[in-house]
Amino acid sequence: AQVVQAEFVKSSVRTEDCPFDGIPEFALVGRSNVGKSSLLNSLVRRKKLALTSKKPGKTQCINHFRINDSWYLVDLPGYGFAAAPHELRTDWDKFTKDYFLNRSTLVSVFLLIDASIPVKKIDLEYASWLGQNQIPMTLIFTKCDKRKKKKNGGKRPEENVQDFQELIRDFFQTVPPWIMTSSITNQGRDEILLHMAQLRNY
Ligand code: GTP
Ligand code: MG
Repeated sequence: AQVVQAEFVKSSVRTEDCPFDGIPEFALVGRSNVGKSSLLNSLVRRKKLALTSKKPGKTQCINHFRINDSWYLVDLPGYGFAAAPHELRTDWDKFTKDYFLNRSTLVSVFLLIDASIPVKKIDLEYASWLGQNQIPMTLIFTKCDKRKKKKNGGKRPEENVQDFQELIRDFFQTVPPWIMTSSITNQGRDEILLHMAQLRNY
């Protein structure tokens, strides 16, 4: 399930502009700054294939990366970027949601949740929206390398993950598949790639 080849293919602003060669794809979504682009780089073992930043709002288009010439990883703009003007935010929402609803080759969404901070309402809302629209999802908890800090709620990543799962269980009755990760230590990398390989073969 390892990545032997990865190349950037295209940035699109609309679903209709995305590549149309019919190969399966997985989308990385989550709040701005949660670590989507970093995770992509970790998965493909390249430091700068997808651009990352300390400032939220770095990724602004639908970016397709072709993996092993046979499937795509898709880096999306983050949601919940407070500094973005309201109009821009609803635009982003519209175009990413349109992508989820209309992209027929989308196998599954990988919803990234920051495990180093307490549960955010917007993440629960996003998971609920995906669930209501019957879009298959896997929960990816990011930044699991971070130690607990008082200013971040004083809980360890494992505790934040447990809180999130309890809240999501209230909504779904069950918890979607989930993986704990870190783009610093590469925790979870093999598990994600294996999971994606299994999903592609269904
Ligand atoms: P947008 O494109 O703005 O939506 O953000 P993004 O979700 O792509 O986040 P990005 O990968 O750019 O990472 C944001 C910041 O978090 C950067 O400073 C990263 O170095 C940091 N970061 C990402 N993943 C991890 C992780 O696993 N552990 C730690 N400690 N920091 C991380
Ligand atoms: Mg990004």
